[in-house]
Amino acid sequence: MLTCTPVFSSFVDCRYYDAGACRSCTLMGSPYAAQVTAKQSAVAAALAPAAPDARWLPAVTGPEQGFRNKAKLVAGGVPGHVTLGILGPGGAGVDLRGCGLHEAAIVAALPHLADFVDTIGLIPYAVPTRHGELKHVVVTAAPSGELMIRFVLRSTHQEALMRSRLPRLLAALPQARVVSLNIQPKPAAIIEGDREIVLTQEDSLRMTVGPAPLYLRPDGFFQTNSTVAAALYSQAQAWIDAADPTTVWDLYCGVGGFAFAAVAPGRRVGGVEIAPGAIASARRTSAELGLTPPALTFAIGDAAHAADTLPAPPDVVIVNPPRRGLDPDLLARLDDAPATTLIYSSCNPATLARDLAALTSWRVSQARLFDMFPQTDHHEVAVVAHRV
Ligand SMILES: C[S@@+](CC[C@H](N)C(=O)[O-])C[C@H]1O[C@@H](n2cnc3c(N)ncnc32)[C@H](O)[C@@H]1O
Repeated sequence: MLTCTPVFSSFVDCRYYDAGACRSCTLMGSPYAAQVTAKQSAVAAALAPAAPDARWLPAVTGPEQGFRNKAKLVAGGVPGHVTLGILGPGGAGVDLRGCGLHEAAIVAALPHLADFVDTIGLIPYAVPTRHGELKHVVVTAAPSGELMIRFVLRSTHQEALMRSRLPRLLAALPQARVVSLNIQPKPAAIIEGDREIVLTQEDSLRMTVGPAPLYLRPDGFFQTNSTVAAALYSQAQAWIDAADPTTVWDLYCGVGGFAFAAVAPGRRVGGVEIAPGAIASARRTSAELGLTPPALTFAIGDAAHAADTLPAPPDVVIVNPPRRGLDPDLLARLDDAPATTLIYSSCNPATLARDLAALTSWRVSQARLFDMFPQTDHHEVAVVAHRV
C-alpha cells in the first residue's frame, strides 16, 4: 500500500548549520512544506515541455530528518581525537557525528566508531601532508537497525591491525553485520577506491525495503531513503498492475527493488544490471524467495542490450538509470520496442526531461515526486508513459 505522509509546516533546526560548521543542506531552516512545494513546481516546469499531459499525483514524503540510511564521513582531526564529518576551510576536520539527516542507528553508532578508531591508534589521513591512513568512514543502516561499516584506508598497511581488532568493534557494535576495508590510495577527493576487503563472514547487509529482502554489498548502489524508496517501489507496482502485463523488464535493476515489486503469478520479470555484485545480490533474494526463471530472471549486462539476455519482449519496461540518464542506444531501442507501458524513475529531472523529449512515441500520463532528500533541492521523480 502506498503511503503519502502529510507535509507539516515544520522545519529542522541544525546546530551545525546554525554555527556555520556545515552548509551542505542548502534548504536547512526553510519550512518543509515550502521545500516540497518548490521542488514540485520546479520538476513540473522542467518536465512540462516533454510531458504536457502529465497528471501529477501528490508528492510522497517521509521523515524530514533521520532519513538517510547511509553516512559518508571524512575522517579528520589528530591521532586520538578523530573527527567524523567534513573538512573545513584549511583542511581541518569538522565533526558532524550528530548530523540529524542520518538514521538514528547511524547516529548512535558514530561515537563508538570514533572511540574505536582512537583506541586502536588508526591515524586520520591529512590531505596537506598525505600522512595517515583513515580517509573516510561509510556506514549504512538497514531498516532492522543492522549496520554495514566501511573504513576507507589509504593502503593495506593497517589490514592486520583491523583484522585483529575486529572482535573489539563487534563487541561495541553487535548490530554490525558487515565490516570492510576499502582501499583508496589516490591523493584525490574520491570517497572510495576499487578494492574492498571484507573482514566479516557476511558480505552483504539485508535491507528489507519493499516486498523483498534486498542484499546490499559494500560497493553496491542502494536508494538513500529507505522509507521513500519503499513508496517508490509500491508506486511502480501499482502502475505495473494497472497495465496487467505478461512480461516486465527492470533495466538498471541494481539489487532488484523494482523487479521484486513487479513479481506476480503468471508474470515473467527480468532484470538487467551492469554490476555483477548487484546481480549476485538479486539472485540471492530470488533464491530465498524460491523464484526461478522464467518467473524471475536476472542478467549481468548493458541495459541497452537487454534483448540479448532477457527472454521474451516486454509489455512493461522500467528504467532507473544513474544521473546521466538513458544511454542513446537504449533511447532508440525504447522508441521501437513493442512495450506499451514505460516507467521511468530518475534522480535528475534535467536528464529525465531530455530523455522524455527524445522518446517521441511515448506520452507521459502520470508523474510523482518522491522526496528522498529533504533539506536539499534534490529529489526523485517517477513517471509512467504509454504508447502514443
Ligand atoms: C540509480 S541506480 C538504480 C538501481 C535500482 N533500480 C534500485 O532501485 O536500487 C542505477 C543502476 O544502474 C547501473 N548501471 C549503470 N550503467 C548501466 C548500464 N549501462 N546498463 C545496466 N546497468 C547500469 C548501476 O550499476 C546502478 O546499479
